[in-house]
Amino acid sequence: MEIFRKVADMQAFAKKTVREGKKIALVPTMGFLHEGHLSLIDRACAEADVVIVSIFVNPTQFGPTEDLDKYPRDFQRDKDLCEVHGASAIFAPEPEEMYASDRSIWVDEEKLSKKLCGKSRPIHFRGVCTVVSKLFNICLPDVAIFGQKDAQQALIIKRMVRDLNFPVEIIVSPLIREASGLALSSRNKYLTDEQKNDALSLSRSLNMAKELISQKGLCACDEAVKMMRDEITKCHGEIDYVECLDSNTLEAPVENTTEILIAVAVKFGTTRLIDNVLLGV
Ligand code: PAJ
Repeated sequence: MEIFRKVADMQAFAKKTVREGKKIALVPTMGFLHEGHLSLIDRACAEADVVIVSIFVNPTQFGPTEDLDKYPRDFQRDKDLCEVHGASAIFAPEPEEMYASDRSIWVDEEKLSKKLCGKSRPIHFRGVCTVVSKLFNICLPDVAIFGQKDAQQALIIKRMVRDLNFPVEIIVSPLIREASGLALSSRNKYLTDEQKNDALSLSRSLNMAKELISQKGLCACDEAVKMMRDEITKCHGEIDYVECLDSNTLEAPVENTTEILIAVAVKFGTTRLIDNVLLGV
């Protein structure tokens, strides 16, 4: 497995791979890999000849008061996991390698990124779209794998690929949970045992909401949101949002909505967690 730290070296490897007629899959990550990330790498291996995993804690998607500096990192462990899971290369640049100090171009999605996480993280998706565009130009993937865990991110990346004509197929891979129901996240590391237990209220309440809406239909969305808010608050969660939306538009569900996204963002202590479920209606 190759490890690239420099953009030019990564790009040269990608160009050579393209010239050899091989298919490239990219798995963009911020490292501190867990089973959720590894499921994306496994999917990538099933899709392509050459799998590139990027490991880059992207500073431009963190707000000034967020956890950029304390974001967990363990490159040696990540490297071993990538190797075991069959990745061909890791791209792990330093921030200075990715961003010129006088950079002045951004990729900014203007609609979907204003909803859900965008309300409390106004620059987040601009940072994500910009870095993912750069990774596409550096790694030249035919296909890129994203997780349903970050449902809004996956939707925005699909929109970016459509609107900017990136020649990249986007695959969204299922959300992986612990046996307890807790969605795997690098940020779970911040939780105390008690907070981890409280955080089970997310998957529990999402399942309750799914059950309620599948029984009663879309008219039960408000009732489901209230029930979820009560359940999460009872477990000391500080709610950022709890919403039932059309999964394609992130607008309130309408008559021709075919699938809804029930999504939550909640703080336990200082740790902000997100989770979601999809439900066909
Ligand atoms: P990160 O949070 O490291 O996540 C990398 C990828 O792993 C994302 O596509 C995310 O949805 C997926 N993922 C995380 N937890 C998952 C889980 N429990 N089940 C399935 N997939 C999961 O998302 C980012 O990094 C960054 O925003 C990035 C796209 C790399 C741009 O910087």
